Amino acid sequence: MSGLITAAVRTRLTAAGATGRGIDLYEGVGTDFYQHLVGADRAEIREVIALARSTDGPILDIAAGTGRLTIPLVRSGHRVTALDLSADMLAHLHRALPGEPQVRCVVGDMRDFRLAGRYALAILGATSITLLDREGRSRLYRSVQRHLADDGIFALTVAAGASAEMLATPREQEIRIPGPNGGEEYLFAQQIEDEGRTRLVNWVRTSDLAAGGDVTVLTSRLRVLGCDELAEELIASGFRAPRISRVRSHGSEDIDLLTTTAAGGTGGGDDRVPA
Ligand SMILES: C[S@@+](CC[C@H](N)C(=O)[O-])C[C@H]1O[C@@H](n2cnc3c(N)ncnc32)[C@H](O)[C@@H]1O
Repeated sequence: MSGLITAAVRTRLTAAGATGRGIDLYEGVGTDFYQHLVGADRAEIREVIALARSTDGPILDIAAGTGRLTIPLVRSGHRVTALDLSADMLAHLHRALPGEPQVRCVVGDMRDFRLAGRYALAILGATSITLLDREGRSRLYRSVQRHLADDGIFALTVAAGASAEMLATPREQEIRIPGPNGGEEYLFAQQIEDEGRTRLVNWVRTSDLAAGGDVTVLTSRLRVLGCDELAEELIASGFRAPRISRVRSHGSEDIDLLTTTAAGGTGGGDDRVPA
């Protein structure tokens, strides 16, 4: 596995006489970029709200980030715990819902969390399951099992169709990211690694590249996963065979929503401690 910077971006940095500094997409300045990148994306919201309406009880938004799903859930009257590894991402959510009693933000790792509550719905949206390797996913499934109420629903999303194919193909393209003053041009590069199982993605502001010097490269490493593989993993981890439905996307993205419940009851628990 290479470092955090793709070969394509390294080539561009060298040509510009610049030095790249890889920064996690979900930390520091990466979080403002993420907000501009996906802030207006309404994908999954309608389906998540419909799921929430079908349940009765608190909701756990796993890898909640800046609250793209949490905020509409809270505004629809639901009580939500927003769990994320990044305090910087959750800070955006805090700012969007100041003093809101229906939301609780928890900095924690989705691979191993122990919260006091049990949840009617645990949602892992934005295809964030792909942030985890196989071991990480097993640990996530165990943590979710511990926190589901009886008949509680676990829902997660993953890219499908043409979108899944795009995620498995190397790419290098200039994209315009919305923002103040009409937005900015970025170079996006996607490198496929590990015999097609992993993708390394980078974003660099093209004006930074042109200026040379020390250049911030926003970076993330994700797994290439499909719906069938996840369905098998869920069953092996003690969930029922998931129901799979296609999310209606407003853009060109194809997304599958997997919903399931614990197969043999939820082994809630003695070992949970208050968050
Ligand atoms: C693609 S964003 C999704 C954010 C939000 N759910 C949305 O729909 O926009 C992925 C989020 O996962 C978080 N994350 C990454 N690894 C994590 C982990 N191990 N545990 C909890 N959160 C994690 C990141 O900080 C980031 O906020």
